Amino acid sequence: MRTRISELLNIEYPIIQGGMAWVAEHHLAAAVSNAGGLGIIAAGNAPAEVVREEIRKARELTDKPFGVNIMLLSPFAPEVAKVVVEEKVPVVTTGAGNPESYIPMWKEAGIKIIPVVASVALAKRMEKYGADAVVAEGCEAGGHIGELTTMALIPQIVDAVTIPVIAAGGIGDGRGLAAVFLLGAEGGQVGTRFVVSHESIVHENYKKRVITSRDIDSAVTGRSTGHPVRSIRNQMTRNYAKLEQEGKSFEELELLTLGSLRKAVMEGDVVNGSVMAGQIAGLVSKEQSCKEIIEEIVDEMKHLIQNFHF
Ligand SMILES: Cc1cc2nc3c(=O)[nH]c(=O)nc-3n(C[C@H](O)[C@H](O)[C@H](O)COP(=O)(O)O)c2cc1C
Repeated sequence: MRTRISELLNIEYPIIQGGMAWVAEHHLAAAVSNAGGLGIIAAGNAPAEVVREEIRKARELTDKPFGVNIMLLSPFAPEVAKVVVEEKVPVVTTGAGNPESYIPMWKEAGIKIIPVVASVALAKRMEKYGADAVVAEGCEAGGHIGELTTMALIPQIVDAVTIPVIAAGGIGDGRGLAAVFLLGAEGGQVGTRFVVSHESIVHENYKKRVITSRDIDSAVTGRSTGHPVRSIRNQMTRNYAKLEQEGKSFEELELLTLGSLRKAVMEGDVVNGSVMAGQIAGLVSKEQSCKEIIEEIVDEMKHLIQNFHF
């Protein structure tokens, strides 16, 4: 399973675990990396020293490469951007914005830079500024999303850039990974399915909510502010929609989203908390180890591609 992505990241399988605020901490990242994928620690809104601690703890659990996802809207993003250099993290992915200003510093440190993008224009711009690859994320995904679907976005970005593309949004099994390979991607980023892995520290209530949800159970809030977020529909999404209608500012709403994610992940409040998950949650039916998830996806994908004929 060699692709430019597995070569670039020095991993066995071109499967990346999406950076997920509160969810993707050192246990999950290390488990995915140990299973042959690329684990990612999500910095979310955490202070830089917390992220440094997470990086060091992950290193105690794995000697394989892993990455850090920097949420560019975080007030701590500038300090986290320096911590990844100091801690010699091999890969950085960035979410919710344009990482241009940090790219020269990361390049100089030899860090592989993989911005998450949701449009052709941003993908091209990232390539021009020296990104090593992009994660092209469709709006099926959980968390902050763009407008285009994975199906429409991937081939357009693949055609527009020469750097390798990792697809994200709606990959739940080997069929999803095979599909994005056929669209031209060279890796797949998986979020929602890893949320319910054994090694994921999210509260049991959260895992249960993802496992029991149906295809139509997610909702998108935040379109009015230009920062849409996908999560499982509940009292929180209804409250959010109401505040949106009342014209609350983006900052107030964003605070509610991030605070609510913590409430759901750590306390298991799946009623008033934000249960971020993608549309593929309807397909996720059981809790497994990261190793089982990765091996199942890879085996299914190989089988499909080897036996593909009309
Ligand atoms: C709970 C949750 C939190 C997320 N937080 C972040 C984040 O902090 N930064 C980021 O770039 N993407 C974030 N994402 C997106 C994931 O990294 C990944 O791209 C996405 O989940 C892939 O789509 P899928 O959910 O259909 O697998 C989050 C997704 C989920 C489900």
